[in-house]
Amino acid sequence: MEALRHTFEQRLAAALPGVDIALERPKSGELGDLAYPCFRAAKQLGKNPAQLAQELAGAIAIEGAALVAAGPYLNLKLAPETRAQAVLGAILEAPEGRPYGFRQANGKKVIVEYSSPNIAKLFTIGHLRSTMIGHALAQTHQALGYDVIRLNHLGDWGTQFGTLLAAYTRWAEGGNADLERDFDWAEPAPDKRRTPLFRLFQLYVRFHAEEENDPAMRDEARGWFKRLETGDAEARRLWSWFREISLREFQRIYDRLGVSFDTLAQGEAFYEDRLAPTLQCLEDAGLLVEGDKGARIINLEDVGISTPCLVQKADGTSIYATRDLAAALYRKESYAFDRCLYVVGTDQVLHFQQLFAVLDKLDPWFKGRMLHTPFGMVKLPEGKMSTRKGNVIFLEDVLDEARERVAAIIEEKNPDLADKAEVAEMLGMGAVVFFDAMNDRVKPITFTWDRVIALDGDTGPYVQYAHARIMSVLRKAGGHWAAQAQAQDQVQVQAQTQIQAATPAGPVVPFSAMPVPADLAGLQAPEAQALLFELAGLPGAMAAVAEGCMATPLARQLVAVARSFSGYYTNCPILAPENTPAVREARLALCVATARALRQGLFLMGIQAPEEM
Ligand code: ARG
Repeated sequence: MEALRHTFEQRLAAALPGVDIALERPKSGELGDLAYPCFRAAKQLGKNPAQLAQELAGAIAIEGAALVAAGPYLNLKLAPETRAQAVLGAILEAPEGRPYGFRQANGKKVIVEYSSPNIAKLFTIGHLRSTMIGHALAQTHQALGYDVIRLNHLGDWGTQFGTLLAAYTRWAEGGNADLERDFDWAEPAPDKRRTPLFRLFQLYVRFHAEEENDPAMRDEARGWFKRLETGDAEARRLWSWFREISLREFQRIYDRLGVSFDTLAQGEAFYEDRLAPTLQCLEDAGLLVEGDKGARIINLEDVGISTPCLVQKADGTSIYATRDLAAALYRKESYAFDRCLYVVGTDQVLHFQQLFAVLDKLDPWFKGRMLHTPFGMVKLPEGKMSTRKGNVIFLEDVLDEARERVAAIIEEKNPDLADKAEVAEMLGMGAVVFFDAMNDRVKPITFTWDRVIALDGDTGPYVQYAHARIMSVLRKAGGHWAAQAQAQDQVQVQAQTQIQAATPAGPVVPFSAMPVPADLAGLQAPEAQALLFELAGLPGAMAAVAEGCMATPLARQLVAVARSFSGYYTNCPILAPENTPAVREARLALCVATARALRQGLFLMGIQAPEEM
């Protein structure tokens, strides 16, 4: 398909000298495989676009393809068997040993910073967005050949630790046993309301509630933060214990989500001894200005940002922005990255505008490398979630509920299913994660249980179901086809290894290849052609994920594949006894290709594909 695109572009360029050639994907496979919209060229040449399309259709010829004018578009349409050969070849034969849509290492380094929860708070449904969007971005960039560094800017520093220290010493002093009492860290899925982190969080909420009527408590919290910042041993000891408690719990959630980071050691606290040098850097560059009561700020009015960036408070303490500046300088030094993506909510748009503007002033190297990819916040029907007030939805509760709902359906419809519990977890996770991806990245999401864990419609389980159905067809087909149905784990592990092995030397583990059947006449039906067309859209969807910094295009394309598979399955009998062996082979090959593509796409999103459900 790539070669074809290239030829088409070249022929167009030859026919239209001096015109930018940008190809599109037609709306449906019936129209063709590639489309050239003639509007721009027609305008440049002073022609009518439809007339130009007609002229081009007559002037250009490409072997194996028809060029058809459809209104203002010039469509290139492959003969059914050529299309089948091109798509199946790309998926099954895994040219160059790479999974479908994966590209060779491109030598570019991308930092994806995501998740970044605040320590000592609980993981809510709000944190799912940054975690899973970030995960999909990291996976997809890697698949596209980037060298990816996955970072988590843990919120393990800041004034909230003053509050925690004050609350703890007020009410829970008495040794570590207080938070960890009756708690066994070895429990795989402890009741969230009994975990040390939850107890700590309750102290935090109580402190904020009581502080309303007792302003002196605020000074107490500030005092504790000051002690922490100046290296007081007791404050430090408690802080690192709080951090430890939080990390252990976050790790459990990351393991469940299948998400990992290059390091969890580069949280906000990590930059503490880099703050003074950072401030010095800003000072040397002549950027620091005295603000209110001796606070230090950087003015950004000249670049159109009216709020100055505060980097040091009047009492000399550092703030969030200071640590982000230090982090950016550190990352430049340590990674020499080409791009740094910050997957952080829309509520921090101003913060990142300020951050990037300061960096641009400080060092032109940063220009164009930094990108905030904001996402809409999750709201409750009654309004914003607030950790302080305690009205939040915990991510684990959502995942548990989704799993329970799936389990109940399995119990009703397929009680003999092997590995029921595992499948329920995969599908529950699929529902929640896919729901998130199908949402527009930037608009806020209103959380309701029924929407987030819906199992019908354009959902993860719908896509997962298509995969399981194909596996079942392959098992029934028997012989080497049945082996394909079992190859799932192996292929998946390979895809993963491959993703991790995308070193500059190229893929190390060759992706398992399978020959395309010689006779593809069994795939001429429009439903088979429609499925092939949607499969051909996956590499473009992957590119769109990286370009738009969101998983949505991939999620949508997977739904399109699953849906067209359903049409194919209904209209092109795969195992019907009257099929000739050649028809059967061709149709089964398309099944294998579809399963692989679905599995890979889900994998990039952090969702598993069950073999049975
Ligand atoms: N911990 C922050 C929060 O929960 C997000 C951190 C985002 N990343 C950054 N480099 N500032 O709001």
